[in-house]
Amino acid sequence: MMKLLNKAVYGICLMLYYLMARHLPGSGLPYSLGSRAVRGFLCRRIFKKAGKGINIEHGVFFSSGREIEIGDNSGIGIDCRITGPLVIGSDVMMGPDVMIFTQNHENKRLDIPMRLQTAPKKKVIIGDDVWIAARAIILPGITIGRGAIVGAGAVVTKDVPEYAVVGGNPARIIRYRNQQNQLNDPDNQASGPENPEAQIAPIK
Ligand SMILES: CC(C)(COP(=O)(O)OP(=O)(O)OC[C@H]1O[C@@H](n2cnc3c(N)ncnc32)[C@H](O)[C@@H]1OP(=O)(O)O)[C@@H](O)C(=O)NCCC(=O)NCCS
Repeated sequence: MMKLLNKAVYGICLMLYYLMARHLPGSGLPYSLGSRAVRGFLCRRIFKKAGKGINIEHGVFFSSGREIEIGDNSGIGIDCRITGPLVIGSDVMMGPDVMIFTQNHENKRLDIPMRLQTAPKKKVIIGDDVWIAARAIILPGITIGRGAIVGAGAVVTKDVPEYAVVGGNPARIIRYRNQQNQLNDPDNQASGPENPEAQIAPIK
């Protein structure tokens, strides 16, 4: 009985989100019509987990939302397009038009069209206190470490170490927030990537 009720609540909230709440004004506008509260209320009932003080902005598309977890005081920016399985930590900022994908089209076989080949979903994990700037694209299976910054327009193809600032396509490390003399100082490598092969490289 409870299961059925939860399913009904989920379905109604999802419908209200896509028909109405998604189109309400941006949360920061003076005439926002309580849009932040409305979208927060609905998303708390749609997402797998949602913390306190979340800000789901105008125009966000999150598919079914069922595989999305978001921590306290985190935001999803205007017109972002995200899919699960996705874990967003706490205090995460996201600029407008960010895209986070968790599935590729399989393309190994040549005897059938790619549209008929299925690929497994790969979870994306975003640590606490991360800033993902405008129009960044994050590909399936990526982990973004705590305190990292993903620059505007970056295409993130490999894991981002903690406190790294990355940019470009494919994204490369610009600097570390927790290092004084940055990437070229040989005495200052301790907080760099533990496994450089699996993570993105610095700009040469
Ligand atoms: C990533 C970012 C935070 C880096 O800022 P910063 O640490 O002050 O970096 P700098 O401006 O000193 O640039 C350092 C180098 O990185 C490069 N760089 C900076 N931002 C970049 C980006 N988004 N993509 C690629 N390269 C970038 C610069 O060209 C510079 O290269 P150089 O050393 O060869 O000249 C910033 O550039 C950015 O992208 N901000 C996003 C702004 C935004 O989207 N705001 C909307 C609200 S979310």
